[in-house]
Amino acid sequence: MTTSTERPVADVESANIARIYDYYLGGLYNFEVDRQKAERIRSMLPSVDLLARANRDWLRRTVRFLLSQGVDQFIDLGSGLPTMGNVHEVAHARNPQARVVYVDHEPSAVLHGEEILADEPLAVMIEADGRFPEQIWEHPQVRELLDLSRPVGILMGGLLVFVDDKDDPAALVAQYRDACAPGSYLAVSHLSDDLADPETKAQVGRMTDAYLVGVGQQLYVRPKDVIASWFEGMELVEPGLTLMADWRPTPGHAVDAQTPSKALGYGATARIR
Ligand SMILES: C[S@@+](CC[C@H](N)C(=O)[O-])C[C@H]1O[C@@H](n2cnc3c(N)ncnc32)[C@H](O)[C@@H]1O
Repeated sequence: MTTSTERPVADVESANIARIYDYYLGGLYNFEVDRQKAERIRSMLPSVDLLARANRDWLRRTVRFLLSQGVDQFIDLGSGLPTMGNVHEVAHARNPQARVVYVDHEPSAVLHGEEILADEPLAVMIEADGRFPEQIWEHPQVRELLDLSRPVGILMGGLLVFVDDKDDPAALVAQYRDACAPGSYLAVSHLSDDLADPETKAQVGRMTDAYLVGVGQQLYVRPKDVIASWFEGMELVEPGLTLMADWRPTPGHAVDAQTPSKALGYGATARIR
């Protein structure tokens, strides 16, 4: 959307996924329209906010792990808003020189992101579609901020949930794998209901319907073996592909340990040879 002077402004008339997710995380970058849709979705799956928090917690632990392996540059695909303990905040706490490119395809999310990162010389947010890796590699801000001849951490927290089978998530992961310098890492988290009890499975179905009707976005729920197959040709880091909450948990800090949402998401990180 633009004003009469063509200066872009955020679309506050329609809900968007990045702001709904921010609301679930307890953030401030959401509007009434987002909150209404978020509550409608939550009425279908009451623990959806805990699922979002567990996903963000997994992402933070992943970034800390990658920093411990010497990774100091990150591309966060399908990042949502760069708030609520997102990648640059976690990375800069350990390495103030770390560089982060956030990528989202929603113009509103990117506008908020640019505002949030205005005073961050080592973190930027770009508008691009994560289904097209060349849009990322060739983006001027990516080329300016990152040195892609060196290892990079590719983060796909919750991105592939939005990628249709016809867009071939396995091939997409392979394209990112093949474009990265050896020693890079690729991390994926994904919605799954393999281990859920029948009532929670039914709630997940109603939740995905509510996303489709409310935000026009299809969410894909996939089994563990499908997600595991995407890591072909890479070395899975211990403990492999696990429920997000079980991936290198911080003792005493499992946000969703007691809720059905614990069974709803897998996460893994792999090293690119
Ligand atoms: C679940 S939210 C953010 C999750 C965040 N990465 C995390 O792990 O905490 C997923 C985001 O992916 C974005 N998204 C969905 N499809 C995308 C695509 N094809 N390219 C880029 N971003 C996409 C949505 O706009 C949304 O902001």
